[in-house]
This record gives sequence, structure tokens and C-alpha cells, in this order.
Amino acid sequence: MSLWRTKSIAQCLRDTEAPEHALRKELGPLDLTVFGIGVVVGTGIFVLTGVAAATKAGPAIAISFVVSGIACALAALCYAEFASAVPVAGSAYTFAYATLGEFLAWIIGWDLILELSVGAAAVSIGWSQYIQEILKALGITLPAALTNAPPVGILNLPAALIALFLTLVLTRGIRISSSLNVIVTTIKLAVVVFFIVVGAFFIKSINWSPFIPPAQPITSGGGTSLETPLVQLLFGLKQSSFGLTGIVSGAATVFFAYIGFDVVATAAEETRHPQRDLPIGIICSLTVCTILYILVSLVMTGIVPYPSLNTAAPMATAFVAIGLSWAAGLVSVGAVCGLTAVILVLLLGQSRVFFAMSRDHLLPSWFSRVHPRFGTPYRITLCIGIVVAIVAAVTPINAVAELVNIGTLLAFVLVSAAVVILRRTRPDLPRAFRTPLVPFVPILAIIVCGYLMISLPLITWLRFVIWLILGIVIYALYGMRHSRLAGELPKPISTATAVGDSIDT
Ligand code: ALA
Repeated sequence: MSLWRTKSIAQCLRDTEAPEHALRKELGPLDLTVFGIGVVVGTGIFVLTGVAAATKAGPAIAISFVVSGIACALAALCYAEFASAVPVAGSAYTFAYATLGEFLAWIIGWDLILELSVGAAAVSIGWSQYIQEILKALGITLPAALTNAPPVGILNLPAALIALFLTLVLTRGIRISSSLNVIVTTIKLAVVVFFIVVGAFFIKSINWSPFIPPAQPITSGGGTSLETPLVQLLFGLKQSSFGLTGIVSGAATVFFAYIGFDVVATAAEETRHPQRDLPIGIICSLTVCTILYILVSLVMTGIVPYPSLNTAAPMATAFVAIGLSWAAGLVSVGAVCGLTAVILVLLLGQSRVFFAMSRDHLLPSWFSRVHPRFGTPYRITLCIGIVVAIVAAVTPINAVAELVNIGTLLAFVLVSAAVVILRRTRPDLPRAFRTPLVPFVPILAIIVCGYLMISLPLITWLRFVIWLILGIVIYALYGMRHSRLAGELPKPISTATAVGDSIDT
């Protein structure tokens, strides 16, 4: 069956050397770690922490961050092994093509649009809100028609402009993108550390008591609604706000805050020593972010009673409540910088995934031309940037941001499964980094990420299934016929070992 044909690892690596597809190798471990932190620290910490504390877990949102962090750490260990064994642009898509077969690789590539493009559009809208706050503080109010999608306004101009500006930066070169990322990420980290250090002096332990507020039924009339988590429908496990299940549904929400560390793997071909540096970049950025998140959530819920944190800018809210209004302005500047980096790296990741798919002819190969001077996949980058800008300008895509979580979690599940498969099919492959305790760690990653997936509401699942069906139709109409492997002998997984072994180096 052609659906399960796999691409040999040797072929994956050879593709990176073709002159018309060769990306410029300019990144080291520090660049990658900063890329990781750049994309991870954003809306999740600047916005969602407060909302999730107020509505789902109370001060125990810190525990939700630990739960989500464990899911990500398990997946990160799997990504790190793959990234060190197959250092090719495309991340989860490429890993799947080498192990699970073309159909699942396409599904992952299609699914990653949710993480990367929908994520970039949603964060652009968040960026627009924060920049308007700052302009307002400076006495400038933008007209509502130009800051809102229809039907409220005509378009969200700031959201479109930031997406387009960052697209241009990305086409200009990976080095300049990395430099911009270092600047904005440094500012946002300084602001987050400032919040933790200053806020720590204002913690009142009474605000942490009780640390896990008692469970309350979710008030949706008792019956099933589109907001009911799937786990409740499947297993009858009654979900609550607060209490233990509140911690888990809080974890499924704040998972968004961790999204992005996997994007580091998409920059594999632009890394000087990918085998060594990708695992360092992935694991270091995740570790730094986990520590920061736990501290921020402890400080935030320690400064003010958690019910008051249900705002668009909870860090600022907390500072205003203790009389530090000037510091609230500083937080907004940090948030704008933070979100700039998130959009930049999500767009980077999306262009590298599509670049890899186009090189394999699952998307038109015209897209994968690299710019002769800048060494970037400029065609695909520009197309993605324009589409993301339009979506951010005229749709309320941020309302469906939970799709970003479900899309990313599916990629984590498939990559974890792929690690186990590759250990069986290619035990000989050099791996600079090896996931510990295989298959235990990948299986645990699948269970924890799978549980977080089913903790998401039914409506998110319905949208997700519709998205996947659309992807399958496009694959049937285009990718399946045009695939570069279509002209070759199909290599089902069971025989891939033998075929792959004879060709791979
Ligand atoms: N982790 C990124 C954020 O929180 C997507 O904005």
C-alpha cells in the first residue's frame, strides 16, 4: 500500500544536500535554546495562567504546570532522539515519514498547521491587544474598525502587520531572525524574572490557602454540552472546576504555554552540529521555561486572591492590586516582546515543515526553492506569512486556540510512537542522544499526552476531526499522486528495515 511507504533516512539526509534545497547552517546550541524560549514563553504565561488559576485550579495551577511540564518533558526526550538521528527540516513530519509511512507523515504535517499557523495567527491577535494597551497608555487610540475582525470592525490591522513584518525578517535570513529573537526574548525574560523577584516580596500565604480549592461541578446544566470534556463522555469521569480534576483540565489549558519547544527541531538543517545541539536546545529551553512557569504561577496566586486573576493581563492585574501600576506597564512591554518572538518562531517552524513537505512533492515543489542570496525558503515563507496575516486580520481565530493544543498533542503522541518503531527498524542508526528507558518513556508520553487530549472539550474534537478529514481529502487529490516516492517501489514498514538498511549509510 502506497499509504505506508516510508522514506529512507539516507534519502532524508541526501535531500538536505541538494544545492537548490540547501539551507544555510548558522545556528549553535545557544541560538537554539533562545529560539526555544522565544517561542515557548508567550500568551500561555502572560494571559492563560491567570484565567486557568481563576477558573480551573486556583493556586494549584502551579501543579497543573508540573503535570503539563511532565507531558512535555517525556515528549521532549523523544523529540531529542529523533532530532539527533534525523537532523532534517520538518521535525515531526520528517520523523513520521521515515518511520510511520507517508500517510501518517502527511497527517502530522497537516496537523502541525494547527500548532504553527493557527498558533501564529492567534498569538498575532493577542499581540495586537497588548500593543493597543501600550498605545492607549501613550494617549493613542486606534479606530475600532482597524483593530477588530468583522463583524465588529473591518480588519485587525496590527495583527496583520506584525505577521507580515516578521515574515519579511524570516525571508531575509536565519541569522537576522535569530538576532531579533535574542533581543526580544532577553527583554521578555527580564520582565518575567522581574515579576518573580519583585512579586515574591508581596506574597501573602493566606492567598494560597486552600492551595487546592474544593471541587465545584462545572455549571453547564448537568447534561452533555459541546464544552463537556471528551473524557467525561467516554468514561463517565465527572469533571469539576478546582479539586483534582480541575488541576488536570488546568494542565490541558496551560499546555499552550509549553507549545513551541518542539519547533527547535524544525531548524535542524540550519544548525551547525545538529546531532549534539538539537537535544541541548530542546531540553534546555523546556527546563528553563518549566521553572519560570512554576515560579510565576506561585507568585501570581500568592500576591492576589486567585478569583481576581481572570483578566487579559493577569500579571499586570496582580501588580496593580499591590499598588505597582508603573510595573504593570513594564509587563505589557515584556508581553509585546514575548509575543513577537512567539510569532516569529512559529512562522519559522511552519515554513520549515512545508519546505520539507514540498521537497517531497506532497505540496507543489515550486515552494521549496531556496533564495540564492539569503539561503531561506523564501517562497513558502512569504505565502505562509500572507495567509497567516489575512487569517489574523479578518477572523477571530484566537477563539479556537484549543485546536493548537490538540494538534500539538497529536504530534507528540505520534513522535513518541515513532521512536519505539525506529528503535526496532533501525537499531544500528547512530543516535547522539538516546531517549532513556525505551519503550517505557515513549509509552508514558503517549498516555499522558493522550489523557490531556481527551481532557479537551467535545467541540475542539469535532473541529479537529473536520480538519483532519479535509487534510485526507487534499492528500488523496494531490500528495498521493505527486509524491516523489510515488514513482518508486512502495516500502511498507515491515520491509523498510531491510530496504532501508541496504541503502542507508
Ligand atoms: N507557548 C506559546 C505561548 O504561550 C505558544 O504563546
